[in-house]
Amino acid sequence: MADIEASIATEICGVKFPSAVFNAAGAKDVSLEDLDALGQSEAGAIVIKTATKEFRAGNDLPRWHADGSGSLNSMGLPNLGYERYAAAVPRLKEHGKPVIASVSGIGEGDNELMLAAYDKAGVDMVEVNLSCPNIAGKGQLGYDYAASRKMLENCRRVTKLPMGVKLPPYFDRSQFEEMAAVLTETGADFVVTINSIGNALVIDPETEEKVIAPNGGLGGLGGGYVKPTALGNVHMFDQILGGKLPIIGVGGVAAGTDAFEHLLAGASAVGVGTALVNEGPAVFMRLNAELRTVLEEHGYAEPAAARGKLKDKPGTSA
Ligand code: SIN
Repeated sequence: MADIEASIATEICGVKFPSAVFNAAGAKDVSLEDLDALGQSEAGAIVIKTATKEFRAGNDLPRWHADGSGSLNSMGLPNLGYERYAAAVPRLKEHGKPVIASVSGIGEGDNELMLAAYDKAGVDMVEVNLSCPNIAGKGQLGYDYAASRKMLENCRRVTKLPMGVKLPPYFDRSQFEEMAAVLTETGADFVVTINSIGNALVIDPETEEKVIAPNGGLGGLGGGYVKPTALGNVHMFDQILGGKLPIIGVGGVAAGTDAFEHLLAGASAVGVGTALVNEGPAVFMRLNAELRTVLEEHGYAEPAAARGKLKDKPGTSA
């Protein structure tokens, strides 16, 4: 083991995080009790569930499934409505770690309204979620580059806070290039990638049934199922953006080594979804200890030192 005691703290857009490992928006962060539990845990931040203007009960049950390979969800943005969350921000800040708000407006002007309220409430950062795959009749804005541009321009006008964008997974280089141009030209400050892979289907062969009920059984894939796609998205954005925008990598972080792989690929921090739902907020104590160990083993003093240090595999001609 290298002779260092690694820190797991990091900084994104001037905001200091006691750990580079925290919850992804959507995982165990809907109720005020959930948010306090994150505050009391070793999570590096409190990320509030993606909010809409009004309270939403979300999609029908069962809407979550987890197995040994990952998860499938069609939650449908259950949330208390932004006003309840904004009112709780001063109390959440007492936990002494950054508070990040996430928004996904359903109607025109909703995102701008919510961002302005969160600015006033004193959150540290905001995330514009362009990628929920689970709302019937509402496509994922992140696949419509012109609409994303317009939305982010409008959002940028109303918030001076560090503004991140939560993206769906992309699969073709042209998609990464289009979205990278949108992000830089609209003044986004950081990237959150990936949201779940939409329209996936998990089948229980015993019962011959779909495992979740809403949206015809189709939902967003997460956890171990998506880690290679998440790492590819982190890496592609880091390369195309020339390392200029910090990236929060989300997808398949269930162990310290998974977080380390996200850092190597280009992330500054990681969001945890499936593992948090499976294990509860105690997962952060384990992940922090494991990340510290793997950083030490590889001789990195902090997460930022490992960022983007991924090496190419040497090849020989066939
Ligand atoms: C959901 O609430 O359906 C999941 C959140 C998301 O995908 O953004």
